[in-house]
Amino acid sequence: MSHLVLLLLAYFGSLLVNLAHAYSIGDIPFDLSTIDTNQQAIVEFVGTQNNIVAQITFSGFSGSATQKPTTLVNVVVVSGLTDPTVKYPYHIHQKPVPSDGNCTGTGPHFDPKFANHGDGTYVCKPADLANCEEGDLSGKWGPLIGAKNGLVTPQLYFDEYLNWKGETTSFLHRSIVIHNQQGTRIACANITHLGSPIKD
Ligand SMILES: *[C@@H]1O[C@H](CO)[C@@H](O)[C@H](O)[C@H]1NC(C)=O
Ligand SMILES: *[C@@H]1O[C@H](CO)[C@@H](O)[C@H](O)[C@H]1NC(C)=O
Repeated sequence: MSHLVLLLLAYFGSLLVNLAHAYSIGDIPFDLSTIDTNQQAIVEFVGTQNNIVAQITFSGFSGSATQKPTTLVNVVVVSGLTDPTVKYPYHIHQKPVPSDGNCTGTGPHFDPKFANHGDGTYVCKPADLANCEEGDLSGKWGPLIGAKNGLVTPQLYFDEYLNWKGETTSFLHRSIVIHNQQGTRIACANITHLGSPIKD
């Protein structure tokens, strides 16, 4: 567990260093002053399912004249995804995790714009993110690549397609499910909003 603490410290340390400087998405300078202290959410996998210990954080930026609203997503996995030959998909699912922890109860992927027509033709193309399921995080940004020692290469990305507002449109109060390569749900955890309830 000390690994986790050290890794998180190193990670947030580097994030703070980055925050002190101008960030950029591709070539576009990023306006950090628009971070929304109420648009913060956390997902914690605590090792009770397949030994998976992971933390995913979401930080919202409200946008400015020169920049669209966006969300910074930070994915850190320190235990459980140990097969280096496996690309583990992960998604936001429609419903929270039932209190008994049964991942089946999270329902299908979160897809409020019905990008998936359910006819087997859905594919998320990185060149066409607007037509991906909003919850298809690994489709949009790549799967988690297993690592023998459990320390998966962290992911850090801006996702402008996630919504914080609206009962049917917000990704808050839903869940994240990690799958194995066969699609079996191997761990799931609730998305917890930090801050006051967001008004529509
Ligand atoms: C997830 O959140 C829901 C709704 O708040 C709650 O009922 C449920 O018990 C939570 N699940 C777990 C595993 O904590
Ligand atoms: C998990 O929930 C699904 C329905 O969401 C149910 O069919 C299944 O039996 C449950 N599994 C366990 C182990 O309770």
